[in-house]
Amino acid sequence: MVSKLIALEAYPHLKDLDFRILRGVELNMRHHQWVPLEDIARFARTDVETASHRLGKLDNWELVRRRSDIGYIGYQLTIHGYDALTIRAFSKKGIIEAISTTQIGVGKEADVYVAITPQGEKVALKFNRIGRTSFTRIKLYRRDFMDKRHISWLYISRLVAQKEYEALQLLSPIAKVPRPIGWNRHAIVMEFINGVELADLREGDLSQNEAEEILDSVLDEYLKIVKFGIVHSDMSEFNVVLTEDHDILIIDWPQYLPTVYPESLEYLKRDISVLLNSFRKRWKVEKDFNDVWERFYKAWKESRGDYHDNQV
Ligand SMILES: Nc1ncnc2c1ncn2[C@@H]1O[C@H](COP(=O)(O)OP(=O)(O)OP(=O)(O)O)[C@@H](O)[C@H]1O
Ligand SMILES: [Mg+2]
Repeated sequence: MVSKLIALEAYPHLKDLDFRILRGVELNMRHHQWVPLEDIARFARTDVETASHRLGKLDNWELVRRRSDIGYIGYQLTIHGYDALTIRAFSKKGIIEAISTTQIGVGKEADVYVAITPQGEKVALKFNRIGRTSFTRIKLYRRDFMDKRHISWLYISRLVAQKEYEALQLLSPIAKVPRPIGWNRHAIVMEFINGVELADLREGDLSQNEAEEILDSVLDEYLKIVKFGIVHSDMSEFNVVLTEDHDILIIDWPQYLPTVYPESLEYLKRDISVLLNSFRKRWKVEKDFNDVWERFYKAWKESRGDYHDNQV
């Protein structure tokens, strides 16, 4: 489902004071579920009346939510308010200058838009929407926030974006992944890829030979990444993009695991079988799982520095 970037509609109307107010709500949400109006006003260096008036507008634009049945008047940031703060930060840092209202990616857990940098470069802006549809994938991130007492969607979605940015920083010098450009809160900016997801191809779009070549290059690329010490953990035809010149890129990295975590082996195994199965089903490309797995298992062990089998 295509989601409108609601924050973008309010954005041109927002004043510096509105951003201070939004920031006041954001910061105080660490301590309150509903942030008291007085605290917001104090943070924004304005009087309660003015703050209340602006918060009414922010509420109409769906950037905050208000509650008055809790013994006081309190506010919460919505995901759109969080988006607005993020857009402002990217713009202030000179990372993006404009955003297109057309959504390019409709992922389960992210909304991806095209944006333009001040230099005129087209980039992809990915907002994390973790937890929007279900919490199934959240278990993949549990390790990262297990010992934190306060877990909010603000915190988790920020962490998820940070992880993806880190993965792209680690991998882009050595592998075919989008080049990362910036990270703020729950969003990342990366190189825009002109291409099509393997999942969007129709059976007739590729011959069996072409499909086999593509599978080989995905496997070669992934092997390199595993040797480097990283497992994707959500590899599928949805996360491989075929570019116009028939090159491939592997996208969607927030749930990556370093190979030093023993559980990464299970995820790697699943990644490989998902890939092989989808190529078998759609393009009749037959590859023996065990042959492929042998190479990957060796790379996985090597990357952990505990590969001592001299016979191979
Ligand atoms: N750098 C990029 N350039 C162009 N399009 C992109 C880029 N990154 C992502 N997209 C598009 O947005 C879609 C969603 O992105 P991504 O897979 O990273 O997020 P996701 O929400 O986790 O997806 P899902 O949960 O469906 O796997 C991609 O399938 C792709 O079509
Ligand atoms: Mg995806």
